[in-house]
Amino acid sequence: MAPADFPANKGLLVALEGIDGAGTTTQLERLKKALTASGREVHLTREPSDNFIGKIIRSALTSSLKDDKNHLVTLNDPAIALLFAADRLHHLSAEIEPAIKAGKIVITDRYYGSSLVYQGALCGEDWVKELNSRAKKPDLTLYFSLPVALAAARREKRGAPQERFEEEALLADVASRYEKLYAADPGAIVINAAQSVEEVTAACLKAIERLLA
Ligand code: TYD
Repeated sequence: MAPADFPANKGLLVALEGIDGAGTTTQLERLKKALTASGREVHLTREPSDNFIGKIIRSALTSSLKDDKNHLVTLNDPAIALLFAADRLHHLSAEIEPAIKAGKIVITDRYYGSSLVYQGALCGEDWVKELNSRAKKPDLTLYFSLPVALAAARREKRGAPQERFEEEALLADVASRYEKLYAADPGAIVINAAQSVEEVTAACLKAIERLLA
């Protein structure tokens, strides 16, 4: 179906998932541009969110979280898992659901799939699944599949300081959890993230178009 034939006003939730360096963030604006050009309203967002719980998480990931006495605080993994789940439920009711109701395509850079694999690896899958059981199921998940070594090379090129969950061994575990999770999920499409930026955009758009058809 051509992009111009998209039925209007159907709110949807699309989640982008992948290990750090897989390229989800690069695709956000590109997808918005293409979908907007075909007459759709798009709302871009991300998790950790830009709301107050998300900000606490981002500080924890960069080891810059401070208490009220200005002392650095290290949160343990289960505490972070709880914060991710709390951030998500707030993000849903405050931002995602209103945008879907308004007929927008909401594209989120990471969603509960990230918790299932990252916190699943660190805190146990069943508990993390339970914590996220109240989060709305996405209409579509686009999983950006990329070999761990290639993702590491991309992160290195980016040059940003290493974040808490960007350690090689953890990401290898996370990648194999992602592969297993989405191979068996009919609501997910696996995108070959080793392709060019343009090819990845085209593959994502094809999957979104199919959903809208
Ligand atoms: P990322 O999405 O790569 O954002 P940035 O480009 O700003 O660094 O980083 C978020 C990190 O948080 C990433 O390592 C994955 C992790 N994460 C979880 O562990 N669980 C979650 O539920 C989410 C949403 C993210």
